Amino acid sequence: MGVSTPTALLSLALCLSGGFQQGYVASVLNQPYIAVEEYINTSWIERFDTPIDRDWLNLIWSALNIAYPLATILGQ
Ligand SMILES: *[C@@H]1O[C@H](CO)[C@@H](O)[C@H](O)[C@H]1NC(C)=O
Repeated sequence: MGVSTPTALLSLALCLSGGFQQGYVASVLNQPYIAVEEYINTSWIERFDTPIDRDWLNLIWSALNIAYPLATILGQ
């Protein structure tokens, strides 16, 4: 029993065309990172009256990126 090449290619294309992007967009915070970084910076300025350090911003951004998929897994 074999799967023809066109069928295999169609399966692969369908796998990569729908759910993959949806899952990627839902789990990786790439696109809104500038807005989120500005928000973190603004909050930091309101709280501490000084702009956030780049290292702290990277640390908070990394923590957010880890927390988001974890929350998605735990929330299911
Ligand atoms: C945070 O905002 C201040 C004021 O707008 C800006 O000068 C500073 O460069 C910003 N810091 C970062 C890391 O974006």
